[in-house]
This record gives sequence, C-alpha cells and structure tokens, in this order.
Amino acid sequence: MHHLHGTARGGAALLAGLLLAGCGGPGLQSALSPGSPQAERLAGLSWGMFAVAALILVGTLSALVVALWRGGDSPRPLTPAGQRWLVIAGGLLLPAIVLPVLIVSSFQLSRSVLGAPPPDALAIDVIGHQFWWEIHYQDRDGQRIATAANELHVPVGRPVRLQLSTRDVIHSFWVPNLHGKMDMVPGQVNLLSFEAREPGIYRGQCAEYCGVQHSLMAFLVVAQPRAEFDAWLERQRQPAASPATPVLQEGFRVFMGSRCPECHTLRGTRADGKHGPDLTRLGSRRTLGAGTVPNTRGHLAGWILDPQGVKPGNQMPPIDVGPEDLPALLAYLESLK
Ligand code: CUA
Repeated sequence: MHHLHGTARGGAALLAGLLLAGCGGPGLQSALSPGSPQAERLAGLSWGMFAVAALILVGTLSALVVALWRGGDSPRPLTPAGQRWLVIAGGLLLPAIVLPVLIVSSFQLSRSVLGAPPPDALAIDVIGHQFWWEIHYQDRDGQRIATAANELHVPVGRPVRLQLSTRDVIHSFWVPNLHGKMDMVPGQVNLLSFEAREPGIYRGQCAEYCGVQHSLMAFLVVAQPRAEFDAWLERQRQPAASPATPVLQEGFRVFMGSRCPECHTLRGTRADGKHGPDLTRLGSRRTLGAGTVPNTRGHLAGWILDPQGVKPGNQMPPIDVGPEDLPALLAYLESLK
C-alpha cells in the first residue's frame, strides 16, 4: 500500500511537471505561448484538436462506465438493433464527420498562415549550416545590406519574409512561439512569414536531424521596437571598428595571424572566410556556438581553444593560441559589438 502511494505521488509529481512545462510564459520555447498572429492561430488549432480529443475520450469512457454498470449481476445488454446503432454511430458516422472537419481546418490554416507575405515585409535570407545559422538582411531591391549569425533580430509589428535555404544538408527552421516548422532543403528556397507582436526574445531550434550536433543547432529571435531594430540593423551594416587601444590592436594582430580568417569574416578587414559565422559583431551576440553556451569571456576562451570539447562534431578546428596571446584576442573579439 505504502509503495503504491509512493508511485501515485511520483506519477502526480511527473504529471504536474509536464503540465507546468506546457504552460509557458513569454520567453519559453513553446507553441502554446504564441508571440505572433501566425503562432496564435496554430495554437488555436492545437487547442481545438485537444478539445475534440478530450470530448471523445470523455464520451468513450462514459460509454465504458455505462457498459460496466449495465453488465452487473443481472446484465441488461442492448438489443441487437441498439448494438448495431452504436457501432454505426460511434464507429462510422462520428469519425466520418470529425476527421474530415479536423483535416480540412488544418489544411485551411496551413494555407492561410503560409500565404504570401505583404509586399512591405522585410526580406531576410536565413541559411542553414551544420550547425549554425547564417542571416542576411535585404533592402527593398533585394540587395543584401547586412549580415548576422545565430541571432535573428526582427522589428515588432512589421512582417518579415524569411527566405530559407541550406548550404549543406536538410535543416528545419523552427521558432515555436512565432510560427510552425519550415524545412531548409538543398537547391530550394522556402518562405516563412511572421510578425512579432511584442518585444521579446524567442528561442528557435533546428527541427530536422542534420548530424551529430543537430540538438545544439539553436538560435534566438530578438523582436525589437522599430527604432531599436533600425539602429541595430544600421550597426550591422558597419565594418568592424578599428582596434583603438594597444591591447585591442594586439588582439587584432593575433586574430589575423591565426587560422581564424580562413573561415570567418570581419567586414572591413581582409578576413573574409565564409565557412563559419561572420564575426564582425561577435561581441554583441548573446550565445556562442549557435545557442550552445552564453557569450562570456570564459566560454569564448574555451570555444577558441577546444571547440570540439564544447560542441563535439562542429566544423571548427582548435585554434593554436598561446597563453601570452589569448587575453588580447579575447579582448578584441569581445570588443566587436
Ligand atoms: Cu540543422 Cu538539425
């Protein structure tokens, strides 16, 4: 008996945990706490389907209770006609009505939330890589004007049109609070459009298995008021600031003398590698390794010296920087804001 109680308590605790995990406040990665009109409609459909399923479950369990009750000491079975009616109504008619309604409403919803974005939508290219996200902002003529990585800033209240593609294998772009998933397929550009309703930070995640670090292929969507976003975008357009102090100059020299420029770009310098994320604004990003660790000096040092220890299987080799050079390199990278 005691053991049974313990099991029940454990079950209740687990259930409570699951329920609490399900009701997300803002900032939690959840399709049920929508931050855009598109996600709101998807959440509405989810709740609608949940309600229908719950009604059917209650109806089925009620029928079971009635059957047990009528099958007691003096059984009172249904008449043959009643039995036939129950099978036809519950087994054929009900699913024949409920399933098409759910299917049609989900197709209709997909069509409407995936419809063409308004013409004034801000166009952004998002390119999947093993295991990070390359981001380019376009002007109204479709020219790329600014580059970012792993942190997608969007203006609040203005629709964005994401043009999703991949440099290598299939990935899937998913920010549950803002929209459904959209695959990034080689040789193809898929479109996804949403409009963040309020300022906030939403976590996104690759949702298609793409290799050993699929689970650590994350990103942040930072929704900002219009003026703040415009200032951020303008900043992204600028080349890297010239190192202003002797320490930063030394850090820049270490950077340019290392293998970093083979893979990374620092706009305005001769570092123009395209294999890894653009580092021109590295110091302003919240995370390192596409959402793997917070962007702090300690994590940055760990990432540079042993990227495979932090995120095994990512494509960055260890960088050979001596202890005498490391502090200046870190100071320089942190200054890139
Ligand atoms: Cu990219 Cu999974």
